Formats: sequence, structure tokens, C-alpha cells
Amino acid sequence: MTAPLVTRVSKADGTTIAEAGRCLAAGGLIAFPTETVYGLGADATNGQAVARLYEAKGRPAFNPLIAHVIDLAAARALGRFSNDAARLAAAFWPGPLTLVLPRTAACPVSDLATAGLDSVAVRVPSHAVARAIIEAFGKPVVAPSANRSGHVSPTTAAHVLADLGGRIELIVDGGATPVGVESTIIACLDDEPMMLRPGGIAREAIERALAKRLTRPTAEAATAGDAPLAPGMLASHYAPRTPLRLDATGVDPGEALLAFGPKPAERHEQAARVLNLSPRGDLIEAAANLFSHLRALDSAGAETIAVMPIPHNGLGEAINDRLTRAAAPR
Ligand code: TXA
Ligand code: MG
Repeated sequence: MTAPLVTRVSKADGTTIAEAGRCLAAGGLIAFPTETVYGLGADATNGQAVARLYEAKGRPAFNPLIAHVIDLAAARALGRFSNDAARLAAAFWPGPLTLVLPRTAACPVSDLATAGLDSVAVRVPSHAVARAIIEAFGKPVVAPSANRSGHVSPTTAAHVLADLGGRIELIVDGGATPVGVESTIIACLDDEPMMLRPGGIAREAIERALAKRLTRPTAEAATAGDAPLAPGMLASHYAPRTPLRLDATGVDPGEALLAFGPKPAERHEQAARVLNLSPRGDLIEAAANLFSHLRALDSAGAETIAVMPIPHNGLGEAINDRLTRAAAPR
């Protein structure tokens, strides 16, 4: 345990961005908005800064991090692109897509950040504040979601402060994050691209860009062994304290309700609290609201959070993935 820090929260203006760049260069930790969720950033090339980041998150050190860079040219310095990888980068960068690639020989990302794997996860974010910070710093920034390990990902500066206040130097406040779920992760390590995590870009869009179908590893393959394929896929990764009951068509006594769509659940009047992910049934709006609604219902003092069924198409795959993890026994 290190001594508590004073965590400052500052609006994302030019002064704050310059300060964020200096803080990263000095080995410090800053939280900043991306289009998906808030990230907790550190200098990707500085092993000590990365070690501090793991400590601040309370994250097991075998869980590797995503390196955030400004453009494709910077990404090529870190990882080797197959034809499929290049196609995906052209279609979706900047944006909520992470590519897992073989490390280049000269890749400067610290071994601690890649957990000793010979692959590296790379992403080019589209959020203006994230881009300005990466540009001000001038080197890759590793950034997991800016929550304590095991908590749901933060979509506002207030969420970050609640989880990491006293543990990091600076939170750059750029408002609520627009996408609301993490990036889609695609491994391009051979000629069969694999979806390691559903996220902000739907499977259908990726398959269209590749003109082929994606495989997704089984949960066992993804989390087994000494060097799991996607260690962050551990079943209970996203976890409110209140148990979740999925695919609920009605509310039981003592439950809060996470609703979806225009049709009310049976007995919704008796819910301790009701929040609707998207009253008009829009999956993009639902993704943007998912983590903040889970946090709010988690603090409603209910015995259980009943969750109405969410369709599986489009961003529904990522939403259902996060809800299944949040509901997993711990
Ligand atoms: O949207 C996002 O991706 C956010 C924002 C901040 O960019 N970041 C994020 O990072 O969600 P994190 O650390 O919470 O999740 C990263 C995931 C983990 O599941 C990790 O196991 C996986 O990426 N990962 C990282 N490097 C990997 C690698 N070389 N091979 C396989 N999986 C990897
Ligand atoms: Mg995370």
C-alpha cells in the first residue's frame, strides 16, 4: 500500500491536457475519457508506472493491458499487421476496436504491460480528449478501464473518483463516454481472426469488413493455463455487489429492475427502483447507459437486480456478455 494521493478532477481544457502529458512523462497515473469508457493511463514504456497502475487498480498482474496510440503508423511500431488486421484498422480506427497482434521486435511496451506475452493489444481511440492526451505525451499509453479490479467500468469522472480517488494523480473530466461499453477485441495472430471480447463494434460489422465469419474462443480456452488468451474474460470480471437475475419478465419482492424497451415488466410497480437502459429499445443507447445504471441500482439497497431480456444482435452481444459476467457467482 502506498500513501494516499490527492486526486484532482479537472475539466478537459488545454491546461489540463498539457498537465496530463507531463504527469504521464513523470511516471504518474491519470484517468481520461475514451469513446468507450474512462481509461486509467500510464506510460506504456515505463515498467514502474505500469506496476503502479496495477497496484492502483488492484488488478492481478497476469492481466495484460491495451496500448493506446494516435494512428496506424504508431500502431505498426508495436504490432505486426496481417491483411485482416490491416482491413479492420482501415475500417474501424479511430474507434472502439482493439487488435491483438504479434509484438514487433522493437515494440517498446513494457513486458509487465503485456504480461510477458509475445502479443500486444493496440487501439487507436477516437475521443478528442484521449487523442489530445496521447498527442501531448507522444508515446503509447496503456489504459485499462479506470475502475478497481472487479468493479464495473466507469463512464463518468464521478465513477472514476468513487473507485480510484486517493490512488491516482489526476482525473481529466470530459463528460459521459458516448459508447459506454469497452472496445471489441479481435486477435489477429494467424489467418483466423478471433473475437476475444464483444464490445463497441458489433460482430456483424466486423464480419462484413473482413468478408468472413469470426470465431470466438470458448470461455475455457480464453481463461485457461498460465498465459490465458484473454485473461480479462474471467467469468466474474464485471461485478456489482448486488446479485443479478437475468432475463426477468417480472419483478419479485425486494428487487430493483433494470428495464429495456417500451413494454413494462410484470409487477414493475413493486420494484425498489427502476432504471430503463433504453425506453425506445435502442441497443446503442442501452450500451451507453449500462454501467451507470448498474452502479445506480447497485446502491439502491435491493436484494437482487432483475434484468429484462436484451436482444442479442448488434451491441446486444456486448451488453449480454457484460450482464452474464456481472451475474456470475463469486
Ligand atoms: O474500451 C476499452 O478497451 C477500454 C478503454 C479504456 O480503452 N479499455 C479496457 O481495458 O477495457 P481493460 O484492461 O479493462 O481490458 C483489456 C482486455 C483484457 O480482457 C485483457 O485480458 C485483454 O484486453 N488483452 C490485453 N492484451 C492482450 C493480449 N496480448 N492477448 C489477449 N488479450 C489481451
Ligand atoms: Mg476493465
